[in-house]
Amino acid sequence: MWRVGAVVLLSLCARVWSSVCPCEREELCQPIRTQPEFEVFVFDVGKKAWKFYDWTKVTTVAAFGAYDSELMCHAHSKGARLVLKGDVHLPDIVDADNRTAWIQRKVKLAKSQFMDGMNIDIEQAVETGSPEYYALTDLVKEASESFHTEIPGSQVSFDVAWSPKCIDKRCYDYVAIAKSCDLLFVMSYDEQSQIWGDCIAMANAPFNQTLTAYDQYITMNIEPNKLVMGVPWYGYDYTCLNHSKDEICTIPKVPFRGAPCSDASGKQIPYSIMMKQIQHSMSGRMWDEKQRAPFYNYKDAKGNVHQVWYDDPESIALKASYVAQRGLKGIGMWNGNLLDYSKDPVARKQTEDMWNALKPTGFIRESVPV
Ligand SMILES: *[C@@H]1O[C@H](CO)[C@@H](O)[C@H](O)[C@H]1NC(C)=O
Ligand SMILES: *[C@@H]1O[C@H](CO)[C@@H](O)[C@H](O)[C@H]1NC(C)=O
Ligand SMILES: *[C@@H]1O[C@H](CO)[C@@H](O)[C@H](O)[C@H]1NC(C)=O
Repeated sequence: MWRVGAVVLLSLCARVWSSVCPCEREELCQPIRTQPEFEVFVFDVGKKAWKFYDWTKVTTVAAFGAYDSELMCHAHSKGARLVLKGDVHLPDIVDADNRTAWIQRKVKLAKSQFMDGMNIDIEQAVETGSPEYYALTDLVKEASESFHTEIPGSQVSFDVAWSPKCIDKRCYDYVAIAKSCDLLFVMSYDEQSQIWGDCIAMANAPFNQTLTAYDQYITMNIEPNKLVMGVPWYGYDYTCLNHSKDEICTIPKVPFRGAPCSDASGKQIPYSIMMKQIQHSMSGRMWDEKQRAPFYNYKDAKGNVHQVWYDDPESIALKASYVAQRGLKGIGMWNGNLLDYSKDPVARKQTEDMWNALKPTGFIRESVPV
């Protein structure tokens, strides 16, 4: 009797346990149902940096770190969504049953963690018309349908490269994918992953190139209000083979997916680190008017010159103005953890300025000459 009782009790506990709300208030475990007027989409890679985010702005957090129930409760208390990361080896989900099983596992996981959807981050090369091409389109459609049915109000988003033109051999059916999910997060960075011209250091996300690519998405008939602009909170540190007086930094040839050179010859570097390094740099902050991006040069211990290209409040605010002007759904960044959230007053101000650059408060329409 006792044994049976214990087993019953145990399984009862297990059942209760799986749906026990970890938040202070039960209602914080309810998925978010309201739609924000403007998305601020944050990728979070773990630990506790989220405690210092500007929650007056955040509307969605994509949890790319370990699940943190405290983050879930906090996001919900601010009316913000917390979504799962969805990544799968595409050849495995060409099979329809495998695809369904994968989606069902994700829905179940999201439900058990009181989450609000999924961000699908497939950065694999796909050929137009291949089995993977169609499977990916189906995956996004089926995942969106399942999530929307099982978790009313949930959000399914999909990450795309900065341009729809088969960047890094990612030839996806962008139009169909955009149609079936809630939003495309456009990764407007790593724009030098395939350098076809001179092998020189350039901006991570040059203004003109970035904006031209949005026009490409929109010209394909993707609604501007399906697009969230992703900006980088990191830069690239390049070791120059040669550094000329007119600021040309020649970089080593590192091919990538068919292109002769790439930003892969550089090293990604967080905004928090750059803001310290720039103080001891050779050049201080400089501004490239053509690419509308800041950069600086420094010399390493071996005497090699480095050129570092990045984004800061000035370059981000320029892009954010376009977001407002063009009526995009919102803005976001890779990633929220990359700022300095320490108590140091200088860092604090820099961090605040980065958050504020996402939503220019005084956005003014371009004046019309009279
Ligand atoms: C289903 O997915 C698994 C991995 O999750 C993979 O090993 C297997 O080959 C897939 N089956 C088919 C038929 O694609
Ligand atoms: C930006 O791109 C457009 C279209 O490619 C081009 O016409 C324009 O001259 C470019 N502007 C700058 C400043 O490079
Ligand atoms: C390297 O830079 C120097 C100084 O700016 C310049 O005179 C020289 O032509 C450059 N060499 C190469 C190979 O680009």
